[in-house]
Amino acid sequence: MSRFLLTRTLDENAAESALRADVLAGLTRPDKWLPPKWFYDGRGSELFEDITRLPEYYPTRAEREILLARAGEIAAASGARTLVELGSGSSEKTRHLIEAMPGLELYVPVDVSESALTGAAETLLAEHPRLRVHALIADFTRPLELPDSPGPRLVVFLGGTIGNLLPAERAEFLRAVRAMLSPGDALLLGTDLVKDEATLVAAYDDAAGVTAEFNKNVLSVMNRELDADFHPADFEHVAVWDTEQEWIEMRLRARTELNVKIRALDLVVPFGAGEEIRTEVSAKFRQERVREELAAAGLELTQWWTDAAGRFALSLATAG
Ligand code: SAH
Ligand code: AVI
Repeated sequence: MSRFLLTRTLDENAAESALRADVLAGLTRPDKWLPPKWFYDGRGSELFEDITRLPEYYPTRAEREILLARAGEIAAASGARTLVELGSGSSEKTRHLIEAMPGLELYVPVDVSESALTGAAETLLAEHPRLRVHALIADFTRPLELPDSPGPRLVVFLGGTIGNLLPAERAEFLRAVRAMLSPGDALLLGTDLVKDEATLVAAYDDAAGVTAEFNKNVLSVMNRELDADFHPADFEHVAVWDTEQEWIEMRLRARTELNVKIRALDLVVPFGAGEEIRTEVSAKFRQERVREELAAAGLELTQWWTDAAGRFALSLATAG
């Protein structure tokens, strides 16, 4: 029996029509915005991996520090036979957890990026001769059908990706995760923490311009998939800290007045000089907010670990 299965819950037509619907809705409103999941084609996934190695982008290093220190405790607390990971990307940090879980039989990475899923599975299968991997190409904000899997299960959502959801989306997402958990299962959640503005802005506007390229990648995705004619050089990368919402906002700002054709939608999108598209929010958390949002979804925070510098947190939660 093959140890690797890949299930495509989003066929290419469904993904394309979801992109068309999001672009039509997002670029025809006065406050233009696009959901961040469209960054992650093959190039976008590579650029994200480059971001994780930037000196300014501390979240990956901080979360890895916690995972390395706590993997044994997490493994013992969960006793999991199945590990489900939402937005798994390269699974690079998850490997530390998998190494600490001798009873683990099945790993279920879930991501919209096929290239990230297949790359990660190849490495993990080579490293763990008894592990089975069932990868799902799926949108974690939509109802998920998980494969049959032995319990207990540990569901992990790392990297602070929960911060890329808006508050109402987070509430719905956490309720859906709660519904996935049976007694004895647990959720491990990574959240970036509120800190000084300069550190936060630098993490999203690095000196080498990698985050700018990642942000502009969504324009290339629309050009390729929707036959649009965005010129990335016409847009400036912007990262701002919203003190009220406690989130970083990434935007693309038109340098001049321009019209963009999106032929697949038969649409012309006008931009005034300086007009922006919001492409991502990245919310930063405090412990109380994490506890409250988990509780509102019927989840109880049982462990809270941070890195030594207090920049990032991992929370363990069970169905309360
Ligand atoms: N967990 C990894 C990767 C974080 S990058 C880490 O901590 O480094 C965010 C990942 O989530 C990307 O791989 C992206 O493709 C995936 N992603 C973003 N939105 C998604 C969605 N709506 N459904 C499924 N995957 C999504
Ligand atoms: C995936 N996610 C947690 C990243 C973040 O930090 O919000 C995406 C990212 N955007 C810009 N840099 C990294």
